[in-house]
Amino acid sequence: MTTDSTAGYASIADQLAVQYESIGFEEVHGQILHLIPPEGRALDIGAGTGRDAAALARRGFRVTAAEPTTEMAAHGQRLHAGLDITWTDDALPHLPLLSARGGTYDLIMLTAVWMHLDAAERAAAMPVVAALLVDGGRLAMTLRHGPVPPGRRMFDVSADEVIAAAQPYGLVLLYRGTRGDMLSRGGVHWDILMLEKR
Ligand SMILES: C[S@@+](CC[C@H](N)C(=O)[O-])C[C@H]1O[C@@H](n2cnc3c(N)ncnc32)[C@H](O)[C@@H]1O
Repeated sequence: MTTDSTAGYASIADQLAVQYESIGFEEVHGQILHLIPPEGRALDIGAGTGRDAAALARRGFRVTAAEPTTEMAAHGQRLHAGLDITWTDDALPHLPLLSARGGTYDLIMLTAVWMHLDAAERAAAMPVVAALLVDGGRLAMTLRHGPVPPGRRMFDVSADEVIAAAQPYGLVLLYRGTRGDMLSRGGVHWDILMLEKR
């Protein structure tokens, strides 16, 4: 399922698979590890090659990985075969397959994905994501800032915008932080957010 927001991924999926899998879940999410629920159902939206989905499965979560770029998902299925991960070709803003399935999740990950959506897509996606969380469920999000790689579609989305957009859907802020880039890409820095559905 290709959308404008996936531009630039399919053609270099082989290279990105090596890059994304060279860093660990504990490194990427170090600031919010203490806020990750101990177990349950997890949904990794824009799962890429499944680094985080795999780590969550190893932690005991039943994991659904939603990834619309077939070439990225194929790497994930190959690299993390044998783990309890259900791969789904679904995309924001509406996640039609997952929304139709009607399941809910204790944890949703949106790692390096939200800034690929334009303003209208972000507005449409927030209630969709919130509806997929159980009460007390948590939403972890990272937002990339800095130079946009060639061929990629990316917007400079602020943490303030996300926090304000999430609030009407009962999502309250548990953690807000920033960090540099784990892959040492020049000028790249990140916002780290954890929200909880109340
Ligand atoms: C920077 S990668 C991050 C991959 C993974 N979350 C990680 O941290 O390694 C962004 C991913 O989001 C996916 N993506 C782009 N637009 C999307 C959308 N509308 N819905 C879901 N995923 C999307 C891309 O295909 C890509 O795999």
